[in-house]
Amino acid sequence: MLEIRDLHVKFHDRDREAVSGVSLHIEDGEILGLVGESGSGKSVTAMSIAGLLPRRQCDYTGEILLDGKDLLHADRAELRKLHGKEIGVVFQEPMSSMDPLMKIGEQVEEVLLIHTKLTKEERRRMALEAMAAVELADPEAVYDKYPHELSGGMLQRAMIAAAIVIKPRLLLLDEPTTALDVTIQAQILDLLKKLNRESGISMLFISHNLNVVRKLCRRVAVMQRGVLVEEGETETVFHHPQHPYTQRLVAAIPTRCRKEDQP
Ligand SMILES: Nc1ncnc2c1ncn2[C@@H]1O[C@H](COP(=O)(O)OP(=O)(O)OP(=O)(O)O)[C@@H](O)[C@H]1O
Ligand SMILES: [Mg+2]
Repeated sequence: MLEIRDLHVKFHDRDREAVSGVSLHIEDGEILGLVGESGSGKSVTAMSIAGLLPRRQCDYTGEILLDGKDLLHADRAELRKLHGKEIGVVFQEPMSSMDPLMKIGEQVEEVLLIHTKLTKEERRRMALEAMAAVELADPEAVYDKYPHELSGGMLQRAMIAAAIVIKPRLLLLDEPTTALDVTIQAQILDLLKKLNRESGISMLFISHNLNVVRKLCRRVAVMQRGVLVEEGETETVFHHPQHPYTQRLVAAIPTRCRKEDQP
C-alpha cells in the first residue's frame, strides 16, 4: 500500500543528508518496525510520509507512493485531504501533542470536523466508539475530561483514538511508548496488535528498541545515519543480524530479555 522509493532529505542548515536514499514498503495490514539510533532519520522518514516535512527548510527527492499516488510532491490541499483520511499519526509525547484547554472528546473527533460532513451527534458517537476501541474505561466520562486529568497511558490511548477515529488505512507511530513505564508500554503494544488484527490497519512503528519491535512487527528495517542498513523478518534480523550496526543493536539487548521474550 505504501512504497518509499529512494527518499533523500537534506536540511539547508545541515551538511549531511538526514535521509539518504531510503526505500521501504509497507504491505496492506502489515506492521513494519523501524529502528535505529538517535538522529538516524526515523522521524524525518515518518514526517515525509505524514506530509509534515518543513518543505521550505529542506531539499527532498524520491517518491512516496500511497496506492500509486505520490505524497512527497503532492500539493498542500491534496496532502491535507489524504493525511486526514488515509494516514493517522501518533507521536511520543502525548501531552505536547494535545491542546490543554480542549476536552479529550473534542480532540478525538477534531479530524472528523475537518474532513467529514458528519453532524455533531455522529462525530460524538464515532469519538466514543474510537475511545472504546482503544479500551479507555468509561469513554463517556473521559470525553469530558481535559488532558491534565488523564494519566500518561490514558493520554496515549486518547491520542491513538484521535488517530484512528476516521479509520485511516495507515498509522504512523513515532516512539509511541517510549515515555511510558514498562507495564503501560506492554498494554499499548497489545492494543496496537489488537487494532491491527481487528481492523487490518497498516502501521509503521518507530522505536529505539529492537526488543519492543520484536513483539509487534513481523518485519523490521534498521537505519543508521540516514541510510537503511538492514531489512527483513524481525526474527531473522534478531537472530542473524548481517550489518555490524544491527549486530551491536542486538548485542545491546540484555540476554535475559532475549530469552524471556520469545514471542
Ligand atoms: N527541522 C530540522 N532542521 C534541521 N535538521 C533536522 C530537522 N529535523 C531533523 N533534523 C536532523 O535530521 C537528522 C535525523 O533526525 P531524526 O529526527 O529523523 O532522527 P531520529 O532517528 O528520529 O532520532 P531519535 O531517535 O532521536 O528520534 C538529525 O541529524 C536531525 O538533527
Ligand atoms: Mg525521532
